[in-house]
Amino acid sequence: MSRHCLLLLLLTTTLLAFATLTAGASAPTVETLNGTYVGRYVPDYNQDFFLGVPFAQPPVGPLRFANPRSLNTSFGGTRQATEYSVECVGYGSDQWGFNVSEDCLYLNVVRPSNYADYDEPLPVGIWIYASLGGSFVEGGSPDQRYNLSFIVQNSVEIGKPFIGVSFNYRLSAWGFMASGQLAGEGSTNMGLRDQRLALHWIQENIGAFGGDPTKVTIWGESAGGMSVGFHLVAYNGRDDGLFRAGIMESGNSIQWNGMYTADYFDGAYQALVDNVGCTSAADVLACLRMTPFDTINAAVNTTNASVWFPVIDGDFIAKLASYQLEAGDYVHVPIICGTNTDEGTAFGPIGINTTAQFLQVLEEGSIHPYTPLAPALAEEIIDVYPDDPCVGIPEDLGCTRLNDILGLQWRRTSAYAGDATFIAGRRYQCEVFAAGGNTAYCYRFNTLPNGVPIEVGVTHFQEVAFVFDNTDGYGYDVSPDPFAGVPESYFALAKLMSRSWASFIHDLDPNSFRASGAYVEEGTPLWPAYDVGSPLDIVWDANVTGLAWVEPDTFRAEGINTIISYNRAFRR
Ligand SMILES: *[C@@H]1O[C@H](CO)[C@@H](O)[C@H](O)[C@H]1NC(C)=O
Ligand SMILES: *[C@@H]1O[C@H](CO)[C@@H](O)[C@H](O)[C@H]1NC(C)=O
Ligand SMILES: *[C@@H]1O[C@H](CO)[C@@H](O)[C@H](O)[C@H]1NC(C)=O
Ligand SMILES: *[C@@H]1O[C@H](CO)[C@@H](O)[C@H](O)[C@H]1NC(C)=O
Ligand SMILES: *[C@@H]1O[C@H](CO)[C@@H](O)[C@H](O)[C@H]1NC(C)=O
Ligand SMILES: *[C@@H]1O[C@H](CO)[C@@H](O)[C@H](O)[C@H]1NC(C)=O
Ligand SMILES: *[C@@H]1O[C@H](CO)[C@@H](O)[C@H](O)[C@H]1NC(C)=O
Ligand SMILES: *[C@@H]1O[C@H](CO)[C@@H](O)[C@H](O)[C@H]1NC(C)=O
Repeated sequence: MSRHCLLLLLLTTTLLAFATLTAGASAPTVETLNGTYVGRYVPDYNQDFFLGVPFAQPPVGPLRFANPRSLNTSFGGTRQATEYSVECVGYGSDQWGFNVSEDCLYLNVVRPSNYADYDEPLPVGIWIYASLGGSFVEGGSPDQRYNLSFIVQNSVEIGKPFIGVSFNYRLSAWGFMASGQLAGEGSTNMGLRDQRLALHWIQENIGAFGGDPTKVTIWGESAGGMSVGFHLVAYNGRDDGLFRAGIMESGNSIQWNGMYTADYFDGAYQALVDNVGCTSAADVLACLRMTPFDTINAAVNTTNASVWFPVIDGDFIAKLASYQLEAGDYVHVPIICGTNTDEGTAFGPIGINTTAQFLQVLEEGSIHPYTPLAPALAEEIIDVYPDDPCVGIPEDLGCTRLNDILGLQWRRTSAYAGDATFIAGRRYQCEVFAAGGNTAYCYRFNTLPNGVPIEVGVTHFQEVAFVFDNTDGYGYDVSPDPFAGVPESYFALAKLMSRSWASFIHDLDPNSFRASGAYVEEGTPLWPAYDVGSPLDIVWDANVTGLAWVEPDTFRAEGINTIISYNRAFRR
């Protein structure tokens, strides 16, 4: 070998060694129970991402339409965890732009890179995604509207660092198909059980990431908030030690659409079975599990077979939550629980012009609670939700009565629909938790983002971009960027909310960051804990000095009390 060649060889070897060294220094690794994952260091946020980490056996073949199974194999060497996984199969705009698959049970960890600088392992905040107004048919953890980087960055800036986690769970028929036959083999509420399995995986493995498994907060909005509500009462309120707090945004333990047992869906199930050619199979479930994905997907997507709800199965969902809350059968932990001022415009009937028309939709059960109401109860609702625009929603419209396709009584029917969907349940959950000795922080979000018409108002989902401090509007490709052209105070409100959430995840106290010297605008009130004798909400409002104010949680008391008492009657 010539001297030249030797030099070249030496040089190459040195370069290679250097490259290996730098890659080793910048690519974080973590040893889970099953093997070692290599994540990605993201200098812009000084964060480590571990994306697309499996937490369950792929729910395919014999595991389709079945409860999820825990991972039971380990691997040698290392595996990459640097890119988001696909989304679960779902139906609607949340799935646009994403690849979907049945094999979708993966989670993501977003960790401050300096996690080891702190004296103790970090608390953990787990985001459970939304799904079109609580329908469990679409959504996914790679969705950039749920980008955890900014809230985790806020948590570091205020000295309340936490590790953010998000995961996928099965949707629509894939996660919630129900029938007497499926219930017979114990397969129920699969999508919720996916979430539960992810929580178990996090208990077993988050320590390896630098997280503290005893300091987990579960957190979600809409179907995600409902999911947190379900975990709070799961297995009749048994405390499996999976979390120490819950955050419910526009969702709670009380199910607005009532609850059914699995056999309620027998008709829809049979139609699907017939559609995919499994009618005369000796083992119908085996047939469903062997049928090609495309065949089932086509049947789900082109018929009415995409909407399935969690069911009362006497196991994961033991009873109607209102009974459990009343009896104290829930996991006793601190909560944040809130709703938006004009929630109901997303859930109300459109085009109601007369009281007779409102009565009719209540009595035929075509609006919440989606069960025909006895005439006396319908009359009572008419009375407690008067036809007076001044007390209707959207609140911002003052006393104006709309006169267009939304209907002359839009403001009345929307007020009812929002209360029946999430607001009454929110108030009840705050009352029960506070009365049961659990700290409850309750809120009303009252800021109209860019792009939302005033007749829609501060509707469902609008607080999400604020909580995530997503002021660049990542992920808002289908709907308008909520922060485009809005006043400076909107940005300040996003910081305030995001930091309050981070403080709660870190300390169970949304106010704690203020004591640590982080900047808070003058005039911002403390967020009071709920007190049943004198119930208070914080109102997040970018249009007032201090960005928030505190109000008695007594608005529309008569209407909300009526809904709370009728909700207890529904077990279908
Ligand atoms: C794999 O990981 C799961 C989840 O943490 C754990 O329950 C299981 O024991 C592990 N199995 C093996 C063989 O490593
Ligand atoms: C893991 O569980 C599956 C059932 O889902 C089973 O078929 C397989 O044999 C198990 N593997 C091991 C290594 O235990
Ligand atoms: C979807 O999958 C295809 C094929 O693997 C790939 O080329 C494409 O980049 C993926 N799209 C997204 C948005 O991940
Ligand atoms: C959040 O968005 C920023 C900007 O697009 C991106 O660099 C970062 O990777 C995202 N974080 C996560 C956890 O997806
Ligand atoms: C369902 O059908 C719509 C409309 O044809 C299509 O855009 C979408 O990709 C389909 N979804 C799935 C999961 O196949
Ligand atoms: C879906 O259900 C609605 C309401 O029950 C019904 O009017 C409609 O015909 C159904 N569509 C299909 C494709 O089955
Ligand atoms: C109520 O009035 C609006 C506007 O004229 C109309 O579009 C709508 O169909 C009416 N609703 C009913 C139930 O007649
Ligand atoms: C607050 O101010 C914005 C912008 O000035 C305005 O569009 C909105 O209607 C106001 N009210 C609420 C409830 O956000």
